[in-house]
Amino acid sequence: MATKKQPWYMNAFFYQVHVRAYCDSNADGIGDLLGLVSKLDYIKALGVDCVWIMPIYPSPLNDDGYDIADYYDVHPDYGVIEDFQHLVQAAHERGLKVIADLVLNHTSDQHPWFQAARSDPNSKYHDYYVWSDTNDKYSDARIIFLDTEESNWTYDEEAGQYYWHRFYSSQPDLNYDNPEVREEMLNVMKFWLDLGIDGFRADAVPYLIEREGTNCENLPETHEILKSIRAYLDANYQDKILLAEANQWPKDVRPYFGDGDEFHMGFHFPVMPRIYMAIKQGDATPIRWIMAQTPDIPEGTQWCTFLRNHDELTLEMVTEEERQWMWEQYAPVPRMRQNLGIRRRLAPLLDNDPRKILLANALLYSLPGAPIIYYGDEIGMGDNIWLPDRNGVRTPMQWNAGLNAGFSEAPPEMLYEPIITEGKFSYKIVNVAAEENDPESLLTKMKHLIRVRHENPILAMGAYEFLAPEVNAVLAIHRSLDSEDLVCILNLTEQPQKLDLDLSRWNGAKVIDLLTEDPFPGITGEPYAIALKPWTFHWLKLSSEA
Ligand code: GLC
Ligand code: CA
Repeated sequence: MATKKQPWYMNAFFYQVHVRAYCDSNADGIGDLLGLVSKLDYIKALGVDCVWIMPIYPSPLNDDGYDIADYYDVHPDYGVIEDFQHLVQAAHERGLKVIADLVLNHTSDQHPWFQAARSDPNSKYHDYYVWSDTNDKYSDARIIFLDTEESNWTYDEEAGQYYWHRFYSSQPDLNYDNPEVREEMLNVMKFWLDLGIDGFRADAVPYLIEREGTNCENLPETHEILKSIRAYLDANYQDKILLAEANQWPKDVRPYFGDGDEFHMGFHFPVMPRIYMAIKQGDATPIRWIMAQTPDIPEGTQWCTFLRNHDELTLEMVTEEERQWMWEQYAPVPRMRQNLGIRRRLAPLLDNDPRKILLANALLYSLPGAPIIYYGDEIGMGDNIWLPDRNGVRTPMQWNAGLNAGFSEAPPEMLYEPIITEGKFSYKIVNVAAEENDPESLLTKMKHLIRVRHENPILAMGAYEFLAPEVNAVLAIHRSLDSEDLVCILNLTEQPQKLDLDLSRWNGAKVIDLLTEDPFPGITGEPYAIALKPWTFHWLKLSSEA
């Protein structure tokens, strides 16, 4: 049976890049768009389909660019608009797509709209933001940046009023009840789409609208606005995507897919911490549990899955008890904690053990969805917990063992942030050049894993069913698509494991491990015995050839 042609994002790998951190082309110590262009061959060779670039717009950088002061330009640190066009063109020539952040919810307080809004109550821009004479409205809305913000309201001396903000107080929320604001955002989208961008990672979408007596998240009015954004996209462009950042339970994210008329993709947040739980506990239960909480999504929509990103590893979607446990296990030093999360990278979290790092990735890829890889995690980069905020996981990409890890030719003291030079994560050890030609390196093994995952769309799009649910040390998942069948088996422990699977319904099938291409014993009516070394996994393809 021929698989129906699916939109590109259904079986895709995404690669998240912080332009500032990736590669510096003009020796000023700051990564830039042309630097990224020079590394597109590396990204292509990794086997990914789409690059997501974090905000590159003019900004005072109080929130590393998520505080936008001009939606229509590029921050001078990163280059000029023409460099962006060059990036898109160079990416497309290589068959790569590019998406960027669309920060809908708020601007920087340095944005001219806010400047006009605060200085003149009669300006039309005043109503671009959410104002109040008191600071007690919408008191059921939680505070997100718990470590720094005391309230979602901040008093503005100039305006003589309070303004509403869900994130830093330097990020006033836009007023989406104002049709002009909605219009502005369509224009912003149009601008970047016309420059050739392939879509947007829409930042912080649950918070667009506020209503008294609610927690001001996921309101029906917010969904209406998002649907109108999608309708605009569909009416004017083809093959472009919208990816929702809604850090919520899957049942609450489900409405962001609408009936296939809202977002193409949505991040699956809560599966992420459970992968770390499963590996630390040697127990598949958290994975099976969260997948059972995950509703079906409409045809042509897809989950976006990830192990890490540029923010703290969020523990919002776990219980209080689980959070304390995760902090104890994965963030024993207070500096490793931030808000409701952990500000560390993948490799340090997993003890720099390539077996665990590969297992975590394989587990993610064994579940439905399109994975995102955070820059540097493919080579096992470390973090720097001595830097403030989330900066410690945004250090310069480590390209080689030379000056500034090959990131920049500027004098080291000019770098936007220091390279990691100490210990086992030093750029002398962990870098692309060292790993690229080493068949045993994490990078080489990641590339292999990515390639095999990509060649088997069943892993991204197929149905899943957990096998041997009575066994906890090993996670076994049956994946199926059309007439294809695959069994993913992962040993979550540091002990060897033995397992008898009931695969009798495929009696007579041949078995081959997609990862090694090694044949496994054929399936008979008997229990299928599998032995697994510590932290290992197999993707077994079952084929009942006549
Ligand atoms: C999103 C971003 C985060 C940013 C916040 C406010 O959660 O991932 O980095 O601080 O939005 O824009
Ligand atoms: Ca630069």
